[in-house]
Amino acid sequence: MKIAVIGTGYVGLVTGACLAEIGHDVICTDNDAEKIRILEAGGLPIYEPGLEKVISRARQQGRLRFCANPADAVAAGDAIFICVGTPPLPNGDADLSAIDHVARLIATEARSPKLVVEKSTVPARTGQELKRALSVYARNSQVAFHVASNPEFLREGTAVADFLHPNRIVVGVDDEIAERQLREIYRPVLDRAFQCPVHAPACPEGPAPAWLVTTINSAELIKHASNSFLALKISYANMVADLAERLGADIQEVVRAMGLDPRIGSSFLSAGLGFGGFCLPKDLQAFVHLAERSGVDFSMLREAEKINRRRIDHFCGKLREALWVVRGKQIGVLGLAFKPNTDDIRFAPAIDLIHRLIEEGARVRAYDPEAMDRARAVLPHIEYATSAYDAAQGSEALLIATEWDQFRSLDWPRVHQAMARPLILDGRNLLSPAEMKRHGFEYRSLGRPD
Ligand code: UDX
Repeated sequence: MKIAVIGTGYVGLVTGACLAEIGHDVICTDNDAEKIRILEAGGLPIYEPGLEKVISRARQQGRLRFCANPADAVAAGDAIFICVGTPPLPNGDADLSAIDHVARLIATEARSPKLVVEKSTVPARTGQELKRALSVYARNSQVAFHVASNPEFLREGTAVADFLHPNRIVVGVDDEIAERQLREIYRPVLDRAFQCPVHAPACPEGPAPAWLVTTINSAELIKHASNSFLALKISYANMVADLAERLGADIQEVVRAMGLDPRIGSSFLSAGLGFGGFCLPKDLQAFVHLAERSGVDFSMLREAEKINRRRIDHFCGKLREALWVVRGKQIGVLGLAFKPNTDDIRFAPAIDLIHRLIEEGARVRAYDPEAMDRARAVLPHIEYATSAYDAAQGSEALLIATEWDQFRSLDWPRVHQAMARPLILDGRNLLSPAEMKRHGFEYRSLGRPD
């Protein structure tokens, strides 16, 4: 099929590239001309494992193009995937102005029938508004529009594999034509009729994805409800970690056993500095607002949010307890991205942590394998190290803020020697307390006996 993707952020770019990978003819556009220029020149505006390979392959085969003029994309696509941002407004609601703008664009530029697929995360009932907007803005045209909601469940860092090997594909539709077209679009994924170009743990063998056809309202709700549940799960694990700490238990032993119960499941129970990124925190907030506006008291989600905010306080308390005085001391920080395998620092706990360290008068020396360029823009005044060892050099404490794999197996004697005081505070429970002790470190983590 001929597909247009509007918006080339994480979701749009991965969606466009993967739709081309499975055989469609895709054109991607964005109102950020610089992004399009980078993409046309063969560059990538984001770091996402496997994406470069997929994009360059699809471009070589002539199935993927980028264009700066959104009207051209609308004209070219029989299906149009809306992947624009829905950032939080100051009150926590999702800002839907970009969706409205795209609706106007599609309505005024379309000259043939279009399947309009809402991929951006939006509050329930947005699809209904989108339909209304399309018919209002297209009042002088005879073009038929079919609207669908097709929420994404891509995780940054494994987004390509998540797209090509999903466990479920949710399509919210009001008519059969939309469902049929979407099934056609996803047929190669449903049939597993291609070789996944990336090898990641998220690329399992196994059953084909579930194809779930719902109403548009349900599809929108599924996305917010899923992400908010994940956030709840993490905050729950973090509370149990605090309790474990007080009671002398070990959170990792606790969640391991809990997770073996299939009713609970083992993922998203890792205690630490809490959740960040551009999805979980904003989706949680938007969901709370949606519930409030709908007259439903979902304050348990507010609690999850509060618990998450307190993670940094708790961690800084531990640092103060260990260092006594923080002011004037050099602190090394390992990890800036909101999670490993991405350069994304939006709502990253590591960034909040560093702001707090600066407020408390520390000198911060940070290292991240991918996110340092982005971090420089928001934290211009800290020192950036060239490696984890360089971050440790002369530091009185080394904090682990993101669980990059490479931090698991550092040359610990070398780190020990580099530090002014061999103190490690592990905000992601990445390392083994016994091993750190063996290497002569003072080691503290979250929810585990020191
Ligand atoms: C999330 C959803 O998982 C994905 O389905 C959705 O489409 C987009 O939002 P992402 O933002 O890439 O994906 O991050 P995710 O892997 O969900 O992690 C979110 C945050 O939670 C990270 O900061 C991570 O470090 C943290 N986290 C995750 C924990 O603190 N503990 C856990 O056990 C799991």
